Amino acid sequence: MSEVLIEANLAERMNIIRLARPEKKNALSAAMYEALCDALDAGERDISTRVHVLFGSGGVFSAGNDISDFVTESGEFDAARAGDGFQSVMRFLRLLPMLRKPVVAGVDGLAVGVGTTVLFHCDLVFASHRAIFSTPFTDLGLVPEAGSSLLAPRRLGYARAFELLVLGEAFSAQRMLEAGLLNAVTEPEVVEEMALAAARRLADKPATAVAMSRSLLRGDLAQLGERIEAEVRVFKERLRSEEAQGAFKAFLNRRS
Ligand code: COA
Repeated sequence: MSEVLIEANLAERMNIIRLARPEKKNALSAAMYEALCDALDAGERDISTRVHVLFGSGGVFSAGNDISDFVTESGEFDAARAGDGFQSVMRFLRLLPMLRKPVVAGVDGLAVGVGTTVLFHCDLVFASHRAIFSTPFTDLGLVPEAGSSLLAPRRLGYARAFELLVLGEAFSAQRMLEAGLLNAVTEPEVVEEMALAAARRLADKPATAVAMSRSLLRGDLAQLGERIEAEVRVFKERLRSEEAQGAFKAFLNRRS
């Protein structure tokens, strides 16, 4: 990887991870998924680290998967290349339910696709009032991922989950707060400090008691693991579909 697109910093018993590709709205490329997984793995291994903290940058959380990873330069879908790219996505999706340490997120600006679905795996989520959450999966010919087809109905209720994941409705921060995904909504300038303050409070608590409590709250994760695999099977099939390929090309060619 020539550019540093993920910044990770183990400090004060926190693993602070920042998506740092603001010129592409922090869209996640395969290399970024790998770097993200490496950073999360490092935080899990480091015995002094108690909590992961996830931020975007440049007033954006993330625009989701890098759509250009799914098409070749000629604009034709390349199954082999997309398959490679998808390995990194899968590494990330499989890691999420396995994390033993709590995850705190601070969201400013857009959170699209996996930028929203990753938040269902976080234990505390703080957002700025200008944060917007959307998952335009069906518009892209795709299906929900990252276990969101299971976690979103549980967290938001079926009606709101369907509206978010299938209708593709964008949710404001206030609506997501009321829907139960967020802990608090604040000003953009202080959202990271609010997330860090909560992460510090967690880091100060007895680590084993936090880990065991978290595990009890999350319950049996077998069903979540199975759902992630089921979603991956359908998602990969959808990637090859005309619906998806047409939508990717339309996005990438929208200025020409
Ligand atoms: N994949 C690849 N590139 C992306 C991207 C994505 N998911 N999201 C944004 N980008 C790129 C744009 O192509 C653009 O690149 P360019 O400057 O080289 O043309 C750059 O990031 C800035 O994006 P732009 O669209 O100009 O910003 P905007 O503020 O007008 O719109 C979004 C921001 C996020 C609403 C819009 O970029 C978008 O809809 N992105 C796709 C989101 C998406 O569908 N994600 C997948 C979900 S499964």
